Amino acid sequence: MYSSALWLHSLLRWAVLITGLVAWVRAIGGKTGNRPWTPKDELWGLLLTISADLQLLVGLVLYIFLSPITRLGVRNFAAAMQSDAARFFTVEHPAAMIITIALIHVARVKIRKAGDPQRKHRIAVVMFGIAMILIVIAIPWPFMPPPFVSRPLLHR
Ligand code: HEM
Repeated sequence: MYSSALWLHSLLRWAVLITGLVAWVRAIGGKTGNRPWTPKDELWGLLLTISADLQLLVGLVLYIFLSPITRLGVRNFAAAMQSDAARFFTVEHPAAMIITIALIHVARVKIRKAGDPQRKHRIAVVMFGIAMILIVIAIPWPFMPPPFVSRPLLHR
């Protein structure tokens, strides 16, 4: 169960990154090309939100029930703060990702409320852009040198 959830969480990262990148690039194109806000722009924002929410759900299941790292980290918080991996998965990774997912939701509400298409694209460029940067920083990439935490590109 733990391994399956970790595999799904690892795979879903690619869904978040791809939908986020498409939504962001479309917003840049819309802003620079002075293009109207289309149903496709809406769709990619929605797909980003859905994949981020699914990732939040699997992340919470891992955090609360399955991961031995976070279970130990929560029980012995002071000791976890001394270990790079335990601190990363108990505090840094979830905090950064929850903030990011909240940012994506706020962006979608602001886009919906904005009347002017150019304003919609501008909000998407800035807020999806910041969200994508935060996500890329908070992922444990395999090429990260110590003391950063590294994990494979796809969990087996
Ligand atoms: C966009 C959001 C997120 C992305 C892209 C993401 C990505 C990842 C990746 C790539 C891993 C490494 C998987 C592996 O070992 O192969 C990981 C591990 C983990 N993530 Fe996330 N994550 C996100 C959100 C969250 C959230 C919101 C939580 C908690 C509330 C969370 C909790 C965890 C935990 C507990 C682990 C590791 C558990 C272990 O190794 O025992 N993640 N995440």
